[in-house]
Amino acid sequence: MTTDLETYMDARCAEVDAALKKLFGPRPEEPKTLRQAMSYSIFAGGKRLRPMLVMAAAECCGLDGRKTLKAAAALEMIHTYSLIHDDLPAMDDDDLRRGKPTNHKVFGEAMAILAGDGLLTYAFEAAADNALECALNGRQTAELIRAIARGAGSQGMVGGQAADLQAENWKKRNHGFKPGATLEYIHLHKTAALIVASLDAGAILAQAFPEQRRALRAYGRAIGLAFQIADDILDVVGDKKKLGKRGSDAANHKLTYVSLYGIESARRKARALVAAAHRALSSFGTRAAVLHELADYIIARDK
Ligand code: IPE
Ligand code: IPE
Ligand code: MG
Ligand code: MG
Ligand code: MG
Repeated sequence: MTTDLETYMDARCAEVDAALKKLFGPRPEEPKTLRQAMSYSIFAGGKRLRPMLVMAAAECCGLDGRKTLKAAAALEMIHTYSLIHDDLPAMDDDDLRRGKPTNHKVFGEAMAILAGDGLLTYAFEAAADNALECALNGRQTAELIRAIARGAGSQGMVGGQAADLQAENWKKRNHGFKPGATLEYIHLHKTAALIVASLDAGAILAQAFPEQRRALRAYGRAIGLAFQIADDILDVVGDKKKLGKRGSDAANHKLTYVSLYGIESARRKARALVAAAHRALSSFGTRAAVLHELADYIIARDK
């Protein structure tokens, strides 16, 4: 990672954490244990990539990224909820996340499910607040909420997670099963969809032109897929301590870029996607400098 990008990411992380701290102050109607369970995972130390993408997309389209902090926090809440549920015994059954015991290990399965539900719903409150603060009109507000809902829901992340579970034990499937197409569907949905929604949310708040939004979504699909390929690779070769998770793809017989194509071919595919991501940004010129750097970081990262 370049020192410039490192400085940028540290500064953004601090801004996002401060915004989350404000949002997770006492809320009178909330049961204390539920709030603790939600806060536990939100403040367990994620990379904050999705919030960074919200802010960088807004800046690329001419709006100060700090004006998108609530939407940025919203995308992090949805992402964190997806991790809490992903780790549940009924899903990937993991006991370590962000270097700490998983949510259900600390709070129990029922509270972990509800913490996820709480984060998902609170995200829409925060996004709506951001639309009000930016004085979006009715149409723009509806587009913001729709973009986030689509990225998160059964046509997006939840759909990808369902397909991911159904593709476990794929080697035992009969002849009709097409692993390549299924794998691309899974990764584009479980991971890229929320990354696309993050970029689109930043662009909508910046009142971007339709062609700017299209370019950012194309960039998001490419880096989103590359991000999950890198995650598949790290699951096998990554330093578990740095990752803060143990890696359970092999134990769960997951269909991944590594299990289907092998490490080298997965790396090649990820590099090609990052090249496509760079091309998608061509019309922005130097305003997209941060997004270009983030694309390279996504496959070079070690956590
Ligand atoms: C992990 O996401 C889950 C995937 C979608 C691959 P991150 O690698 O962004 O996890 P955190 O937020 O940094 O913990
Ligand atoms: C999860 O993919 C993607 C989500 C939507 C949470 P993984 O199951 O590979 O994520 P990790 O490796 O547990 O973080
Ligand atoms: Mg999973
Ligand atoms: Mg998992
Ligand atoms: Mg993984």
